[in-house]
Amino acid sequence: FDHAVVTPGKPQLPGLPMFRTGEGVETLSVFLKDAGGLVVELRYSVYEAEDLITRTAVYTNAGTQSLTLHKAASLSVDFAPDALELITLNGTWAAERTLERAALRCGIQSIGSMRGVPGHAHNPAVALCHADTNETTGDAWGFAFVYSGNYLIEAERCDAGERLVMGIHPYHFHWTLAPGESFTAPEAAMVYSDKGLGEMSRRFHTAIRTRLLPPHWQDMAAPRPVLINSWEACYFDFDEEKLLALAQASKKADIDLFVLDDGWFKGRNDTSSSLGDWAADTRKLPQGLPGLCKKINLLGLDMGLWVEPEAISPDSDLYRAHPDWAFGIPGREPLEIRQQYTLDFSRPEVVAGIWQQLDAVLQSCPLKYLKWDMNRSISDWYTQTLPADRQGEMPHRYVLGLYALLERLTAAFPEVLFEGCSGGGGRFDAGMLYYCPQIWCSDDTDARERTKIQYGTSFFYPVSAVGSHVSTVPNHQTGRITPFETRAVTAMAGSFGYELDLNLLSDAEKQAVTEQIQQFKAYGPLIHNGRYYRLTNPMTDAEAIWAFAAQDGSEILVQGMIFHAEANTLRHQVKLRGLCAEKQYWLDGTEQVYTGAALMAGGVLLPKAWGDYTPVSMHFTEV
Ligand code: DGJ
Repeated sequence: FDHAVVTPGKPQLPGLPMFRTGEGVETLSVFLKDAGGLVVELRYSVYEAEDLITRTAVYTNAGTQSLTLHKAASLSVDFAPDALELITLNGTWAAERTLERAALRCGIQSIGSMRGVPGHAHNPAVALCHADTNETTGDAWGFAFVYSGNYLIEAERCDAGERLVMGIHPYHFHWTLAPGESFTAPEAAMVYSDKGLGEMSRRFHTAIRTRLLPPHWQDMAAPRPVLINSWEACYFDFDEEKLLALAQASKKADIDLFVLDDGWFKGRNDTSSSLGDWAADTRKLPQGLPGLCKKINLLGLDMGLWVEPEAISPDSDLYRAHPDWAFGIPGREPLEIRQQYTLDFSRPEVVAGIWQQLDAVLQSCPLKYLKWDMNRSISDWYTQTLPADRQGEMPHRYVLGLYALLERLTAAFPEVLFEGCSGGGGRFDAGMLYYCPQIWCSDDTDARERTKIQYGTSFFYPVSAVGSHVSTVPNHQTGRITPFETRAVTAMAGSFGYELDLNLLSDAEKQAVTEQIQQFKAYGPLIHNGRYYRLTNPMTDAEAIWAFAAQDGSEILVQGMIFHAEANTLRHQVKLRGLCAEKQYWLDGTEQVYTGAALMAGGVLLPKAWGDYTPVSMHFTEV
């Protein structure tokens, strides 16, 4: 230990996302000094109102010889000996962020990623709690990494107690500091709740919504548009006529935004080509993007677009012009995944080349939304611009290149809504949320499966960040048939939109879409800015029920589904939360009035299930 200082506010982290500074933020810097010349600043920023602490570490070479960092964690927290449990979110493509909870064993347990992105297997956010901690009671400590690349989270139990360490993965990481140089580790954010896991989650939700998301999309600033996405409606098979027919039906249902997904650019008819050539395919769109956008706008809809800026197809003009822009180890055949390579974003000239293309796309017509996809793990880590002994800097420099491009684009187009995506939810992290206020949660759009994925996601990330759409049945990923209304309430626990061909729906279904959108527009502010409660556990319970309560307890929307119908069974009761005990609440559409105490202590009776996946939607307002 050398010295410590407290300063108002919080310094910007060079090239890295972070919870934003502002009123009510103070920073404690603890300086440590090593005889070898290393100075480490442990930086803690305290967000008083949100009850959140962020931590980073700045490693400076204050000596006279160069130093190499081999592990530069962002956070290390020690606990006195205790019996803690570790909560992690794990899964795979189309089944991301499935919650697991297990007692810490002696030794180190870890999750992480060496795939270049956080990936589908583990999410970079974990919690520690006691065995008896539940949704409403007990201690819970939550940790979220504000980073979108290789990471390692280690939880250790030993005779001295427990320890949690979070940071960039040391695999393929080394960073050389010349005298006077510094390395800033990405930020980690932590919250503590003595009121169980529900309160831990809500603290993260509030802090992310009010301090992390881009200012334009923070709470109340701008409501999220209801969108329709062309992917599951058309995949690669469309022309302008088909898109306009879909847009027309969308307008009739009062959808706000039409998103053209993959397949719109030169020669892209399947996954075999064209990534990197960000110009419209005039065989599908004869007047290019401006022509289509104008027609969509004339229908009264905004237009959005899909891109995958970090990707390059071997069969693309970009690859033919710049084969060296893709990652590849000299003398070896690079690995293709989804028939594509990854661009070396650790090189500023590569990032600049993609910026030029995306800037031109965004300038060419008034796009209001960009979906930023990333469909493969990164391999063949080798950059032509660093010497052999500095190749270990490249995975982190890649992420810095990605952030630089996102920073430049979001600054140049602050009103464009950027939605993150990575083969579904393979890059769902607090780092991306700094630029993209919503992230496509999973390629699994099945409502039942989504209850599990969205349940896990909700432990750290707010509902407004969860990209979620109503899709067709039989579902394209599982073949399951769920009622239309059930799909709608599930998608409403997210950004809300549609991903199906509206023109194939019956008249009754079309009418249902219009009503669902009206409902979402009425409840949207409550859903996105209210307090989120997990009322059941969809992994173990017979139903998935959640609720959005107004900050002042004046209303609550209870939604979800009952998984299976049984002929002669008692209706289940679910206890509400987040209400004022002494207030009276009226259940919309009925004559029933209850006290908050009755709803929270006694609960509400769920409807009788009729068929599997019966939807639940009940709205109570203060009398
Ligand atoms: C993966 C995404 O998760 C999908 O929503 C879709 O955009 C496809 N990529 C397009 O290739």
